Parts: sequence; structure tokens; C-alpha cells
Amino acid sequence: MDFSQLKGKGAIVTGAAGGIGLGIARTLARHGVDVVMADIDATALASARKEVAALGVRAFARRLDVSDRDAVSQAAAEFKALLGKVHLVFNNAGVEIGGRSLAEVSDSEWDWIFAVNVFGVINGMRHFVPLIRAHAEGGHVVNTASIGGFQVNREYRLGPYSATKAAVVALTEALAQDMEDTGIGVSVLCPAAVNTRITESDRNRPARFGGPPADAESKARREKLRAALASGMTPDEVGERMLRGMRNGDFYIFTHDEPKPWLEQRFGRILAAFDRVGG
Ligand SMILES: NC(=O)c1ccc[n+]([C@@H]2O[C@H](COP(=O)([O-])OP(=O)(O)OC[C@H]3O[C@@H](n4cnc5c(N)ncnc54)[C@H](O)[C@@H]3O)[C@@H](O)[C@H]2O)c1
Repeated sequence: MDFSQLKGKGAIVTGAAGGIGLGIARTLARHGVDVVMADIDATALASARKEVAALGVRAFARRLDVSDRDAVSQAAAEFKALLGKVHLVFNNAGVEIGGRSLAEVSDSEWDWIFAVNVFGVINGMRHFVPLIRAHAEGGHVVNTASIGGFQVNREYRLGPYSATKAAVVALTEALAQDMEDTGIGVSVLCPAAVNTRITESDRNRPARFGGPPADAESKARREKLRAALASGMTPDEVGERMLRGMRNGDFYIFTHDEPKPWLEQRFGRILAAFDRVGG
């Protein structure tokens, strides 16, 4: 799509009540894009919407649980009615579980993290992307994965999270193949540390996945990662770097330099294993 003509285009951003989603919404608004901001947290969403609208665009707030397939399907029709044409889709909502071995993760936590991080993105691809295809003017889809999609961080024990983000990378690669020759660009956003409330993800865990935890234990467990993220990149910087990557036609949008040596080491191990194929 023509990124010099962003003014007046319509975007859907999930997980837009705070953190990276709000950073994306503010970035889009600074470039004149109208935004539907969808999030499970209606209270945070209301003030986030005001902030985005104050940047001079049409901003709509809609409560949506991206893991609810029927709700996403219904929301798609409503979002199209609000925006007219949808050119940009950001499947960004995501949650984190960390600080534990795999054996310590409960059934409902497994269900929750895959429902939001993987099926939430699948639901957005199935129901929001057709809105871009419908007008044949082209557009762009960005799925938020994470650097965790390429590494399992030993220090923060993010195994379940990384498993979901690896799935998002693969799903986005598949979408890029499907969208070839449609005029719709596809990118996967892979940030490292960003200063958001992701370590408190369970504040918005739906009742069907166990609800928010009451225990102080979970707070203590996430303290280490929270401290690391507090000095992370701002969500608006992530938004601007993402937009630059989209303009450049990048599929992988990395926002941080720091993980590069780790990835070189990992891919080195993978390639070295090929040297031993057949003995
Ligand atoms: N913060 C980081 O360091 C970092 C790094 C890499 C990737 N990410 C990814 O960025 C995305 C945004 O996370 P963030 O860091 O801004 O966290 P955040 O918790 O600050 O924001 C996430 C938003 O998603 C919403 N949300 C949670 N469950 C939802 C659901 N079921 N349906 C709709 N909305 C829901 C929350 O209410 C919240 O507003 C996630 O996909 C996350 O995995 C974050």
C-alpha cells in the first residue's frame, strides 16, 4: 500500500487499551489514521480512546476478547461499519506467563495463553483480514509475536509464552504466502523488552480461564521480569519502528539490537547440527 497516503485510512488494533497496542494506536493517529481500538479491558480502553482521539483522528473503543471466536466474527462487521474501509490490521493482544517450569503451569493457564496469543491471532486473521481484501485497495497486516518467538529466555522461564510466539511467527509466515499478489503486506513484529504491564497480564484473565489471581505469590514470581521491562523501550518507539518496517516492506520487524548475538548463536547451533546429518 502507499504509505504516503495514510491519512483517513482505517485500522483495527487489538490489545489497544495499553502498552504496545496503545503505542501503535497513537503512532497511527499521529499519521492521520482512524482507529478502532479493541481490548478486553473496557475501563482502560475508555481513557486510551480519549488520548488517541485527542490526536485528531476518529477513534472508537470496543470491548473484545480476541480469544472469543464468535465475538471476533461479530466485531468484524461492526468495525467495518465504523471505519468504512479497513486498510490496516494489528493483531497485537497478548498475555504472558513466566517464571516457572513447564510442570508448574496449570491447565487453565495453558488454555488461556494459547487461546489469547495463538487463537486470538488466528481469529483476527480469519475475520479482520477479509475486510482488507474486500475493497481491493491493498493494506497491511501486522501480527505481534516477540523475540520470544525465536528464543526461550532461560532467565525468565518463558516457555509457554515462547511456544505461543513461535506459533505466531509461523502463522504470519503462512499469511504472507497467502497474501502474495493481493496488494496486502504482512509483517511480524518481534520486540524485546518494552515498558508495559505485560507481567500483570493475569489482571485481565477471563473467568473461564481462572480469572485474575488473588495470590501475592504470582506478584513475587513476576518481579524479576517486571524490573527488566521497566527500563525497556517505550511503546511509542516500538510503534514508530514498526511503521518504518512496514514502509520498508519488512516481513520481520525487530525493534531491538540486543538479541542479535543470541540468535546468531542459536542459528549457528542449528546449522552445525546439519553438518552432522548422516553421522
Ligand atoms: N512488553 C514486552 O516486552 C513485549 C515484548 C515482545 C512482545 N510483546 C507482545 O506485545 C503485545 C502487547 O503486550 P504489552 O507488552 O503491550 O502488554 P500489556 O499487558 O501492557 O497490553 C496488552 C493489552 O492486551 C489486552 N488483552 C489481554 N487479553 C486480551 C484478550 N483476551 N482480548 C483482547 N485484549 C486483551 C490487555 O487488556 C492489554 O490492554 C503482546 O502480544 C505481547 O506478547 C510484548
